Amino acid sequence: MAKTLEGIPPEKIPTHIAIIMDGNGRWAKKRGLPRLAGHRAGTENLRQIIEACAEFGVKYLTIYAFSTENWGRPADEVEGLMNIFDDVFNRELDELHRQGVQLRHVGRLEGVRSSFIKKIKYGEELTKDNRRLVLNVAFNYGGRDELIHVIKKIVEEGLSPDEIDMEAVEKNLFTAGSPDPDLVIRTSGEQRISNFLLWQSAYSEWFFPEVFWPDFNREELLNAILEYSQRDRRFGLVQS
Ligand code: IPE
Ligand code: IPE
Ligand code: MG
Repeated sequence: MAKTLEGIPPEKIPTHIAIIMDGNGRWAKKRGLPRLAGHRAGTENLRQIIEACAEFGVKYLTIYAFSTENWGRPADEVEGLMNIFDDVFNRELDELHRQGVQLRHVGRLEGVRSSFIKKIKYGEELTKDNRRLVLNVAFNYGGRDELIHVIKKIVEEGLSPDEIDMEAVEKNLFTAGSPDPDLVIRTSGEQRISNFLLWQSAYSEWFFPEVFWPDFNREELLNAILEYSQRDRRFGLVQS
């Protein structure tokens, strides 16, 4: 029988899912294809994952597209990835807007090519009133880089030590406005954080499916949400 979310109470559905989309290179290698073919394939499944999140009642989806460390990959892979991002953006923006998706960039814009910055700003402006699903795209994102950004902002604001609290930090995170992720999924079997949402994932539930990212589909997402719905989150307190 096909699995469904029927009977799962809404509070057991994650409000915010974050995904480390890993394994594109290995997906390609297994097929004797160049790594970039894996990166391309890893954009094909995105549309169904975004649509499925909205359908399942998830309100925020954060995807890790490119880390601050990924610039260190061979130049042709970085260049190829930038071209793929550009293509996906051009191809998908109108459809995302039509689906009621609000696009937000999460990360640093310095170091990103200016034509792309313009597109990101245009996409954010176009979709800013959409409410069906917020899609945070972590691009040129690093959790440590984000914390340095926060510290600099706090210094710039001239806060005294007594004024520095959770709120002062959180309002300066790149993800400000999104709640912490309830569930973080990392595909490909790797079980590490790789500089993703260091602050925000303090109490997230983690799920590590074995499939490479291009093979992660609606059913895999459903499995992850079903697994999440069975978890008992305690946040350091005693079980109620
Ligand atoms: C994730 O896939 C995509 C990016 C980091 C941009 P990888 O490229 O890391 O794929 P593997 O881990 O080498 O298989
Ligand atoms: C994390 O994957 C970054 C993205 C998915 C964008 P990596 O493949 O870069 O991480 P490591 O090198 O395996 O830790
Ligand atoms: Mg990887």
